[in-house]
Amino acid sequence: MFKMKFNLIVAVSEDFGIGLKGDLPWKLKSELKYFSNTTKRVVDSNKRNAVIMGRKTYFGVPANKRPLPERLNIVLSTTLKPSDLPSDVLLCPNLEAAMKHLETAATNLMPQIETVWIVGGSGVYKEAMDSERCHRLYITKIYSKFECDTFFPPIPESFKEVLNDSQTPLGIQEENGVTYAYKILEKQKI
Ligand SMILES: NC(=O)c1ccc[n+]([C@@H]2O[C@H](COP(=O)([O-])OP(=O)(O)OC[C@H]3O[C@@H](n4cnc5c(N)ncnc54)[C@H](OP(=O)(O)O)[C@@H]3O)[C@@H](O)[C@H]2O)c1
Repeated sequence: MFKMKFNLIVAVSEDFGIGLKGDLPWKLKSELKYFSNTTKRVVDSNKRNAVIMGRKTYFGVPANKRPLPERLNIVLSTTLKPSDLPSDVLLCPNLEAAMKHLETAATNLMPQIETVWIVGGSGVYKEAMDSERCHRLYITKIYSKFECDTFFPPIPESFKEVLNDSQTPLGIQEENGVTYAYKILEKQKI
């Protein structure tokens, strides 16, 4: 049967930190814009993308900015009830259940989903990278250390860096005195 793939997107500090106290450890406006543009971008304007995230990542987004607009938001949780979320947010008990739902709905979900993005946090990223469905990792490497309490899991060796696509800026970016670079890694076929 057709297996839907997904990509993952994350910003990591020098020591692989991703979060602090339910929020991002840094304020990088252009980096957030890149996240937003990348996860919204579709080739077919009749379609939209889906973003899949854990409960803490969803509630870490400021209340006035969630659900993330122009994307189907899917929240993974075993404790929330559907009534804890807005009616247009899908609640799933785990990542595979979310993917199965999208596959089943693929023929009648209007508008259809073009790309599925895994947007955190830590456990969801690990499950995603271990899955055969994982195609690419869009990683913003931040060249500084920040106080963090949440970390990105080790990247399996099967992922190798590829050339940036035309929408992903090349080279060192700088914002608020912090330098970072956008990288794309792709799972190599064995
Ligand atoms: N730097 C970045 O790019 C980035 C990206 C995303 C998040 N973050 C940061 O990371 C932090 C949040 O990440 P986190 O790792 O602490 O939490 P999280 O993964 O967002 O949420 C954890 C919760 O999500 C549910 N969950 C996670 N994985 C699941 C799975 N496979 N199946 C079912 N439910 C699952 C569980 O909810 P229940 O307990 O309800 O079952 C779990 O307690 C925040 O600080 C956030 O700002 C950073």
